[in-house]
Amino acid sequence: MISTNPFAILAETVPSIGMQIFALAMVALAGGGTILDIIHKKNVKYFFNNAKKAKLSATKNLSSGEKISVVTKTIAHDILTTAELGATQRRIAHVMGMYGTVLFWIGSAVMIFKYSSPGISTPSVWPIIWHVGAIMTVIGGGWFWLFLRVDVSAEANSVFRIVLADLFVLALVAASAMGLIWSYLQSSGINGWDTLFLVLFAVANIILFGGVYWSKFAHMFYKPGAAIQKNLAKADGSNDDLPMPADAPEDFGLGISREKPKHY
Ligand code: HEM
Repeated sequence: MISTNPFAILAETVPSIGMQIFALAMVALAGGGTILDIIHKKNVKYFFNNAKKAKLSATKNLSSGEKISVVTKTIAHDILTTAELGATQRRIAHVMGMYGTVLFWIGSAVMIFKYSSPGISTPSVWPIIWHVGAIMTVIGGGWFWLFLRVDVSAEANSVFRIVLADLFVLALVAASAMGLIWSYLQSSGINGWDTLFLVLFAVANIILFGGVYWSKFAHMFYKPGAAIQKNLAKADGSNDDLPMPADAPEDFGLGISREKPKHY
């Protein structure tokens, strides 16, 4: 199963152009949802106005070299390792889900656009990337949803309470899980059931990409921009018009270590 391209087998019954149109429709839905979100929330407009305003309080003019260095460090540290989540389970689960999703999407794109015609053999690295990516997403996303999300870990709500804010993580995990089950049933030759899970795989993807306007999907585009702006603002001394940390030892009183901070 793990080294079999499920889209190549599907191509025996569904033309590969159909799969390619579906994949492009998902990209269009994600792009359209993000644009609607930007228009509705006006977040990007606020972001640029805020950055322009903060720049007026800059105490240092950064050279291009300094800017490139800040941006490179931010990409390597804040973005690629989701540093803002600290050295916690939260960060490990996120990194697992994030890289899993990237692998799953890259594997899907390559197999659908390059290796989905009947008779073309797929180098086994691509199905392996796709399956491993899906497994990482299910583990990372499932771990987050079951144990780490704030409603459960800090607010003690039931793990079975589902709200609109769970749309992204649940659709993400469902898309990968349905894909894995479909691939397993297909490679085991369990006819009928494999079609059911193929349909569920498609539906989960439509919910994931079609739900961008209502879900947290677009954070994967906003967060990197915000991290770069924050670090540039620190480097030029404007610090987004926030006070700089006090030049004094941290002293929050004895109560600070009674309970780990987890109320958001
Ligand atoms: C393919 C890219 C990404 C995927 C699949 C992904 C996935 C997720 C998921 C499933 C969640 C949980 C959402 C929820 O609260 O229900 C999440 C939260 C979060 N993500 Fe991402 N993410 C991606 C990229 C990024 C990037 C690039 C950053 C930062 C630079 C980032 C920072 C965060 C933060 C700070 C949270 C909140 C975590 C929390 O509430 O504990 N993500 N992400």
